[in-house]
Amino acid sequence: MAPVISGFSKLSKADKIKWLAEHHFNNDSDATNTLITYWNSDDRLQRLHDEFTENTISNYYLPFSVAPNFLINDKRYTLPMTIEESSVVAAASKAAKFWQSRGGFKAEVLSTTKVGQVHFTFTGDPERLRDFFIQVKPELLKSVSSITKNMEKRGGGVKEIELRERTKDLDHYYQLHCTFGTADAMGANFINSCLEQFAKTLVIEAKKFDSFSETEKDIEIIMSILSNYVPQCLVRASVSCTIKELPNSTQLSSLQYAEKFVRAVRIAQIEPYRAVTHNKGIMNGIDAVVLATGNDFRAIEAGAHAYAAKDGTYRSLTHAEIKEDQFTFSIEIPLALGTVGGLTSLHPLVKLALQLLDNPNAKKLMEITAVAGLAQNFAAINSLITTGIQQGHMKMHLMNILNQFEATTIEKEHLVAYFKTNTVTHSEVVAQIEKLRS
Ligand code: MEV
Repeated sequence: MAPVISGFSKLSKADKIKWLAEHHFNNDSDATNTLITYWNSDDRLQRLHDEFTENTISNYYLPFSVAPNFLINDKRYTLPMTIEESSVVAAASKAAKFWQSRGGFKAEVLSTTKVGQVHFTFTGDPERLRDFFIQVKPELLKSVSSITKNMEKRGGGVKEIELRERTKDLDHYYQLHCTFGTADAMGANFINSCLEQFAKTLVIEAKKFDSFSETEKDIEIIMSILSNYVPQCLVRASVSCTIKELPNSTQLSSLQYAEKFVRAVRIAQIEPYRAVTHNKGIMNGIDAVVLATGNDFRAIEAGAHAYAAKDGTYRSLTHAEIKEDQFTFSIEIPLALGTVGGLTSLHPLVKLALQLLDNPNAKKLMEITAVAGLAQNFAAINSLITTGIQQGHMKMHLMNILNQFEATTIEKEHLVAYFKTNTVTHSEVVAQIEKLRS
C-alpha cells in the first residue's frame, strides 16, 4: 500500500511520476515511459493541459471524430464527436445520411432559464420571513449589480428570486429559488457568484430587520449552489417522413418498421430497465458533442436523467408516433450548454470543434446537440428492431480486438475483408488470427 503523502501537489511533475513509479508501479520504467509518451512535444500546449487540473502527470487521449451530413434546420453540419465507443460515430453518420434526404432534422430551443438556490435555515414565524423577503428582494438584486453588469449587456442576468418554504419536508428549511439567463455562457460561475452574494446579503439584512426576534435574525446559510436540473433550459429536435420513406426489407415492410419502431420507443416510455439503456444510447451522441465542444458532460448527464424521471418514473427522452401516413420521432431534453467561457477559448480542439460548427451561439449548440442524441437513438433502435445491435457494433469493435492481438497492417486488411461477409465474434476473430499466423 502506498504511504500517505502530504504536499504531493507541490512536487514537480517529474517528482510526482517518480513517487508513483516507486509506490504504485514497482519502479517499472514502462509505466513511466507510457506517461511520458503521452506528453505533448509542444511545451506551451503541454503547460496549458497541465494547468487545467491539479496533479496532471500526462494526457489522456480520446478520439476526436467527426460525423458529416447532418442537415439541421436546412443547414448542413459536420458534428465533432469525442467518444471512445467504436460504433457511435458510425451510427450517427448513418442516421444523418438517412435523414438528410428526408428533410433533415428540425430543432428549436424552447427555453433557456437556469436555476440556482440558496438553502437556509430560519427558525421563527414564516409570515415574518415572507415580509422580510418582500423588503429585502430589491437589496438582494442590488447587491449583485457588479456581478450581473456584464451579463446583462449580453442579454442575461437574474430573472427572478422566490422565497420557498420547505418546512414540511425538513424542519426550518427555506430556499431562495433563483432563475437566471446566462446568454452564451453555461454560466455556472456567474450563477454561483450571484448566489453566494445573495446569501451574504440575506444574512446581513436579517440582522437589521426590526420585526425579527433575536432567533429569527439568525438565518443560517446551509449552501448556495446552482442546480443542474434545468427543465426550463429545454430543446426539442425531431425528424419526420412518410411511412413509405422508411426502410423496408423482405422481413419488414415500411409500415411494419414504423410500428415496430414506435413500439420500441413505447417500451422505453413505460419500462425503466429499457429506458435507462435507451437514454444511455441518446447520451452516446449528446456526450460526444458536449465533450468535443468543451462543455460539462456530468452536468448534462445529471440534468437529462433527472428530466427523464420528472413524473416519478424514469422514461425515454424520445417519442415516436405515426399519424396517418406520417412517422415522427422527436426528443425533448434539457441542455445547459455554453459556447463562451470555460474551456471554449482555451482548449485548441474545443475551439476547432466550435469552428467546425460555424461558431454557434449557445442556442444553436443546444439544437445541434439534441439532434446528435436523436440521431444516435434512431440508429440504435433501427439496429435493435432489424439486425440486432451486435452486427454493427462488433464490426466496429473488430479493430479493437485486432489491436489487442497486435495485428499487423497486413493481418488487419485480411481480417477486415474476411469479416465483411462473416459474423464478428470475439472467438471467431481470435480463431482467424491464429489461423492466419499459423
Ligand atoms: C450502446 O452504447 C447503446 C445502446 O445499447 C442503446 C440502446 O440500446 O438503445 C445500443
